Amino acid sequence: MFFNEAYAATLPLAATDIASRWDNLYWFLFWLSVFFFIGIVGAMLYFAYRFHHAKVRKTHYITGSHVIEATWIVIPTILLMIIFGWGWSVYHSMTQAPSDAYEVRVIAKQWLWQFQYDNGRTTIGDLYVPINRPVKMIMTSQDVIHSFFVPNFRVKQDVVPGMYTSVWFEARIPGKHQIFCAEYCGTSHSGMLGKVVVLTDKQWRAWQEGKKLEDIPDAGEAPALTSNGVADSITAQSASPTFSHLTLAQQGKSLFENKGCVACHSVDGSSKVGPSQKGLFGSRVELNDGQSVVADENYLRESIEQPTAKIVKGYNPVMPTFKGLLSETEMNALIAYIKSLK
Ligand code: CUA
Repeated sequence: MFFNEAYAATLPLAATDIASRWDNLYWFLFWLSVFFFIGIVGAMLYFAYRFHHAKVRKTHYITGSHVIEATWIVIPTILLMIIFGWGWSVYHSMTQAPSDAYEVRVIAKQWLWQFQYDNGRTTIGDLYVPINRPVKMIMTSQDVIHSFFVPNFRVKQDVVPGMYTSVWFEARIPGKHQIFCAEYCGTSHSGMLGKVVVLTDKQWRAWQEGKKLEDIPDAGEAPALTSNGVADSITAQSASPTFSHLTLAQQGKSLFENKGCVACHSVDGSSKVGPSQKGLFGSRVELNDGQSVVADENYLRESIEQPTAKIVKGYNPVMPTFKGLLSETEMNALIAYIKSLK
């Protein structure tokens, strides 16, 4: 990375590959601006001095120059196309999460961050993720618009009530990384903080098993890792008693049964009053107005909260709304269950 070393102090720690690429583009823009600033202001000062007012001299009459005009069109065009292509490439990598990413559900509310994991655990404030593995956040808000921002990862994404937005990252540096809320959301907006706790492989396995981890230092201050895991601070305790043994999908399964979904929707592919949920997630659904839609998190949520918004081809608009009847954590569990019905 050509500038990172020298300018490390001016930007936050670059804890992902995207962050390094983002930094390179940032420094390119910075030095390009410096170059043109010096060039333009320098030429201006030089001309002001060299051609200052003199009564005896008459200015040349200039009619135009195709060479100069072509130059000031072609060079900026090339520079802007480079910036566009470079920026697009970084943005594309930032927004397209790998399909094998580990998924974490995020619920923002005034004024805290809540995280739900596949294994059924829930944490508040601290987000636990594995190192060197893509992690995708599926985010929603319980009240107003918030924004999930991790400066060390150079990712920021609005978190909006009533829908899901996502962001992904692959952390390269273990330890704790600051999370900010980057959208003004009321009195304690500035206190809506959290940490991404990036765990080494050993710590991650321990955490998955519900073991207690010792204090993890801030990223960048972590001791050097060794193969025998000196930095892997795990206390030798048995699983904590509060650890839920139901995975997120299992929690969703019991909701699917208790909330009555099962009365109209099968999970084995057979058709009841409503379409089966088997293999639904990620598939393309034909609608009765001739259009089609990919069944992602937002589609499932909409179909639960506003069942008549999109009617599946061959079915009647008879489902009642479940808006307000499911908490955000329950909605996440239910969608995780539907997603698991491959
Ligand atoms: Cu949440 Cu600002």
